[in-house]
Amino acid sequence: MADFGKPKKIGILTAGGDCPGLNAAIRGVGKTAIVEYGMQVFGFNAGYSGLINKDYIELKESQLSGLLTVGGTILGTSREKPYKIADKHDSNDKPEKIIETYKNMELDCVVCIGGNGTMKTANRLSQEGLNIIGIPKTIDNDVWGTDVTFGFDSAVQIATDAIDRLHSTANSHQRVMIIEIMGHHAGWLALYSGLAGGGDIILLPELEYNIRSVCKKIEKRYENKKPYSIVVVAEGIDHPKNQSPATHIAKSIETYTGIETRETVLGYIQRGGSPTPMDRILATRYGAYAAQCIAEGCFGSMVAIKANELTTVPLEEVGGKLRLVEPDLGLIQKARKMGVSFGDEYL
Ligand code: F6P
Repeated sequence: MADFGKPKKIGILTAGGDCPGLNAAIRGVGKTAIVEYGMQVFGFNAGYSGLINKDYIELKESQLSGLLTVGGTILGTSREKPYKIADKHDSNDKPEKIIETYKNMELDCVVCIGGNGTMKTANRLSQEGLNIIGIPKTIDNDVWGTDVTFGFDSAVQIATDAIDRLHSTANSHQRVMIIEIMGHHAGWLALYSGLAGGGDIILLPELEYNIRSVCKKIEKRYENKKPYSIVVVAEGIDHPKNQSPATHIAKSIETYTGIETRETVLGYIQRGGSPTPMDRILATRYGAYAAQCIAEGCFGSMVAIKANELTTVPLEEVGGKLRLVEPDLGLIQKARKMGVSFGDEYL
């Protein structure tokens, strides 16, 4: 064990929507911090609320065992945004309370595990003078500054399984099947599961679709003796407010083509359950590296993966940005050449 003088005291929190791999990341940070660096580790409950309300537990090494396979987060999570105020005239003492907790506990660092919103807050806290390290997670895979977030691979697996199962029932009934996949701003999950599951049409928030083009593609498939179609729809696509994206696309297709259409909204199943081996490894790498960054004093940064190498990016560069699907992405171009439609072609 390396000797760093007085043992460091660190906090860990998980914030934002949950995803598979959070516990593997907590375990990665905690075990490395305790075993390799002799640190004392505290877990804050329910995201930033735990820091505001001084709601925490000490995490001993024994409590960090048996977590790799467990879905969700043992610390709980919330969408608490301590800097957000409903009205600019309202007073907000939450940031002050966080600083107070940090100082009273004599913490040396807080590791904030979360998505874009979490990194934005992490950056604000870092600017207040707290030592912060971010770890990127989300099934949406849209955190700026890293190539991949944990949770994504597990969600791709779940969504692909669902699409696989739709093929046989679509074929039996010769129907169009719409499946709505999570991804408010970014279409990574719809793109990857749509391609892995052999979707015929994939609609992403980043690409402007035309419903006539979608319908023409379906009609052409029928003319070419392809009796069913699978349409993968990201939840963030443009749609009327009074309908879900899946309902909007299903109703439009039935109206324009007359072909029987059904919809499935996969929902929170995509965020639940045990992480895939890839996500367990990724979360472990991120966690262990975050502990190393604390020991090295590399604060105000988010751990990241670039070209499969671990690195760090400054939190101030990450906050407030999104990593979206580029319309000219090589994967999209290749899929188009194989006949996959993104609803934006002139047919
Ligand atoms: O975790 C990301 C995400 O799943 C988005 O795709 C989705 O829009 C959002 O979270 C919904 O989560 P919640 O209902 O928990 O706010």
